[in-house]
Amino acid sequence: MSYADIATACLRRLPPETAHDAALTLLGRVPLPQPPPPAPALAQTLWGLRFSTPTGLAAGFDKDARCPDAAARLGLGFGEAGTVTPRPQPGNPRPRLFRLRRERALINRYGFNSAGLEVVADRLERWRSAHSAPARPLGINIGVNTDSTDPARDYAAGFARVASLADYVAVNVSSPNTPGLRAWQAGDALRRLLTALADAHARLDSAPPILLKLAPDIDDEGLAALLEAIRQAPIAGLILTNTTTARPAGLVSRHRKEEGGLSGPPLAPRALAVLRLAYALSDGRLPLIGVGGIDSAEAGYARIRAGASLVQLYTALVYRGPRLVGEITLGLARLLAADGFASLAEAVGADHRAPGECAHEASATSRTIARAAASGSGARVMGRPTTSAVAPARAASAGVATRA
Ligand SMILES: Cc1cc2nc3c(=O)[nH]c(=O)nc-3n(C[C@H](O)[C@H](O)[C@H](O)COP(=O)(O)O)c2cc1C
Repeated sequence: MSYADIATACLRRLPPETAHDAALTLLGRVPLPQPPPPAPALAQTLWGLRFSTPTGLAAGFDKDARCPDAAARLGLGFGEAGTVTPRPQPGNPRPRLFRLRRERALINRYGFNSAGLEVVADRLERWRSAHSAPARPLGINIGVNTDSTDPARDYAAGFARVASLADYVAVNVSSPNTPGLRAWQAGDALRRLLTALADAHARLDSAPPILLKLAPDIDDEGLAALLEAIRQAPIAGLILTNTTTARPAGLVSRHRKEEGGLSGPPLAPRALAVLRLAYALSDGRLPLIGVGGIDSAEAGYARIRAGASLVQLYTALVYRGPRLVGEITLGLARLLAADGFASLAEAVGADHRAPGECAHEASATSRTIARAAASGSGARVMGRPTTSAVAPARAASAGVATRA
């Protein structure tokens, strides 16, 4: 048992929010044993950024960018600071984070507690000037204040403020703990948001890619409409998904009825289904980050085969500690090799292709899957390719994604 395992076990005895604050402080101060370096087959280039391994840290772990090196310290491939709101705000009253131990899940209703854009940008400016070429990409996840009178304007201003500090910007329109926020995923609100982001994007000489982070509770028609709406917008990818307000049958833990967003394994089936449908509906042309209940190499690999180019972790790290990162990194390389893939990019979306089918031939197949899913009959998963019939590389996503 390493001292990181002992620390993880001790932290689990503290109240959840206290444990989280302590974990973040420790992470910034105490070096962790580094997992083995990722196999070269796991490396990818997306949006011009190099990812040595596809596994990253999900938003919410380091909301205020207190430890921008968190991903590197944990041996992950990328980080995502935030959600940060334009002005500081305290979030909801405590307690607002609950462990569902039996399910290895969490419910949180933090409500965007944030030090605010200026404090976070200031920290990241200092960090960037001290690390001229940080080893891992760092995304910044932006939100809006609970009392915002013009969220579209605030998102655009947030994007402009962090643009020079972020390798990508995640626009969070999916937290369940800010009333009305999820309305920005659809209809007129979405169109206004996209216009505001496009204007802010066009004003910059060099702008980082913008990703939208969506809720698992979006329905299939809503997802299809969103994908249509972002066609002409500068949206470079989707993060699927945030926490859910649903309470799947079978939860037994004492805190299962707490209000807030549920994360961890009970979220996994819906997060996977949304990701699979998004890949099919976009013909695999839009890079996707899969998140929600990933707690093993097998779960991460399933997300990659369903269409994720990258995956993120949060809740499983709370229960398993840093040891999980090495297990996933080694396991992913093993699973790729077992399926006969020479690189991770070849495995992205493999479920949508018949064995031996090229990614660019798969559009018709993907559309069939998408139609089936949108009509409620569920996405059909193609058979896994064998080592003798390897699905060739996924087409580089229309100029936005290329293979390492
Ligand atoms: C305590 C907690 C706080 C979170 N805060 C944020 C946040 O500020 N912004 C965000 O986009 N997602 C936030 N999330 C959602 C995670 O980034 C992730 O999408 C979700 O937890 C599903 O992944 P998981 O099952 O691996 O935890 C938070 C999740 C948890 C558990």
